[in-house]
Amino acid sequence: MAVSKPHEPARPPVLPAAELRLSDSVREQLWFGDEDPARTALEASRSLAAALSSAMGLKPFPAVAQRAITLLSDPETPLRKVREALEKDPAITAGLLRIANSAAYRPRQPLSSVEEAVQRLGSRHVLEIVTCVAAMGLFKDAKGVGLPLRDHCSRVGALTRVLAAEWHQRTADSPFLCGLLHDLGKLLLIQVSSIDYRTLDPKALTQPDEAFVHERALLGYDHAVLGGHVLDAWKLPASVAEVVAWHHQPGRAYERGGEVGLGVSLVRLANLIDYQMRREPAVNEAFIAALAQDGAAQYAGYSEAVLCAMWPKLKQAADEMLSAIGS
Ligand SMILES: [Fe+2]
Ligand SMILES: [Fe+2]
Repeated sequence: MAVSKPHEPARPPVLPAAELRLSDSVREQLWFGDEDPARTALEASRSLAAALSSAMGLKPFPAVAQRAITLLSDPETPLRKVREALEKDPAITAGLLRIANSAAYRPRQPLSSVEEAVQRLGSRHVLEIVTCVAAMGLFKDAKGVGLPLRDHCSRVGALTRVLAAEWHQRTADSPFLCGLLHDLGKLLLIQVSSIDYRTLDPKALTQPDEAFVHERALLGYDHAVLGGHVLDAWKLPASVAEVVAWHHQPGRAYERGGEVGLGVSLVRLANLIDYQMRREPAVNEAFIAALAQDGAAQYAGYSEAVLCAMWPKLKQAADEMLSAIGS
């Protein structure tokens, strides 16, 4: 069902890129400046730096994808060069075409080559998808609690993308990547064995906004800020890294506004939708009524009627993304 958008919700202006430097915002404005009776800011900072170093050593971003992303960032790059770069890793090309043909991007005609994908979806979307395939490929070996977590990231990526695209959220920067990578830090924490989620209160795995509280208590930092630092090190756009770093800090993100406030609201909305879809795939009107009252829906301007109308497309996109990334 088509959804028409009656008006653009008023939001604060997007800040210049110079003011969105992740390292400064994380160090000074996340929780290192907050009071933490369990440890000093220096201890927390050292602990995060150690996890970051282990994570980067274990999971370097694939060079083929990095090269393709650099080429796709330059509008003057001939398509042939992008194809040649991606041909060095057939798994990335195959993943790109699977995702480009899924419901989250649904082209009018099936796409069968890198050139077609760039010409018809645009280099920015292809860049997002290549980043997705490369990043999720790092966690192909996920097992135990890592497996449902990786699937959650895949579905939230699709949900964030559809929420933004269907409601024409043009100021959102790379909503697909923000959703896909929002819990990257949890996958990394599992890989570096910093935390065993199975030992935490079960709600940490079944309810949003729970795990990060335990992580802070145990580690002095949380998955959101670790993920933000890793994305910064991978040279992803600063706004994507900051949305990821702040997705459990909605008050601060909405106060900041612009693409960060919008990105955080979309990710939080998608997160809630995914938890619900796993409990109950069909539309539940009571849930959607409550969702429309959530701060994220209110901030981004999604009414109960809009969310209800979008539900089938959201469900289809989430399911197809799961099989496109997981296969
Ligand atoms: Fe999270
Ligand atoms: Fe999540």
